[in-house]
Amino acid sequence: MNEYALLDSGHGRKLERFGTILLDRPCAQAVWNPSTPALWKEADAYFTRKDGLEWRGREALPESWIASIEGVCMKLATTDFGHLGVFPETRDLWRWIRERIEAETKTRKAPLNFLNLFAYSGGATLAAAQGGAHCCHVDASKGMVAWARENAALNQLEEHPIRWIVEDVNKFLQREERRGRRYDAVLLDPPSFGRGKSGELYKIEHALLETLQLVKNVLSDQPAFVYLTSHTPGFTPTVLSNLLRQLLPGGTLEQGEMLLQGEDTVLQVPSGTWTRWSI
Ligand SMILES: C[S@@+](CC[C@H](N)C(=O)[O-])C[C@H]1O[C@@H](n2cnc3c(N)ncnc32)[C@H](O)[C@@H]1O
Repeated sequence: MNEYALLDSGHGRKLERFGTILLDRPCAQAVWNPSTPALWKEADAYFTRKDGLEWRGREALPESWIASIEGVCMKLATTDFGHLGVFPETRDLWRWIRERIEAETKTRKAPLNFLNLFAYSGGATLAAAQGGAHCCHVDASKGMVAWARENAALNQLEEHPIRWIVEDVNKFLQREERRGRRYDAVLLDPPSFGRGKSGELYKIEHALLETLQLVKNVLSDQPAFVYLTSHTPGFTPTVLSNLLRQLLPGGTLEQGEMLLQGEDTVLQVPSGTWTRWSI
């Protein structure tokens, strides 16, 4: 009952259960009909962007609560933008990262150094830590890094080797390169538009090539994988994998859609794209 579940989608909305709480939120790509209309009446709260940003039913929700998502406990809270502190479409990626790191650690008989860029509330950082990696978690938002650290404590990972960095990603990577710090595995989920710690503008179409080159410069001699995801319209799986193909010749490239998924009968909801390069 403490898990995440997608229950239904349609008419531009999605119905999801986060632990014990049922939420009805916008989902522009769900242009089809809802499959189980009766279920939607049970939603505890509803978020709309129609006339400004507005939650209905928010006052009845707890200020924050905890849900388990792909084996990671996450603190959730309704933010003014309709976000909750987790993007559940990244669940499959967390599982892949945890399993890949576990397998590589066994082969190498040493912990991997994992770098999570634009790391938000830390789900992927914590999945990598559960797999045994030493982690570095980078996000420009002080509040989000604090939230991720709370999540680490919820998962009994507060003593695990994780560096928590509040910094602009490109500035951070330049510094790491100069200092000779290297990473065996990297995940990056660049936003369409973002701000660095000192207000630096990050626009994916201009900044991503530089970020990727900097990522390459901080890869170790024995890199395990580079995982790139996007929620930006037009950044299809092929766009992402073209970027990694040019950057990292050799290895294996895979690509796909990120999907919100429920039980077998529930329609899947496309929610972003991914590509990964691995050895
Ligand atoms: C789309 S969210 C990432 C979602 C996250 N990877 C996940 O799956 O849960 C974007 C994050 O990037 C951060 N961000 C935006 N611009 C940044 C920049 N220039 N440097 C570092 N972090 C940035 C934001 O603070 C935000 O937490």
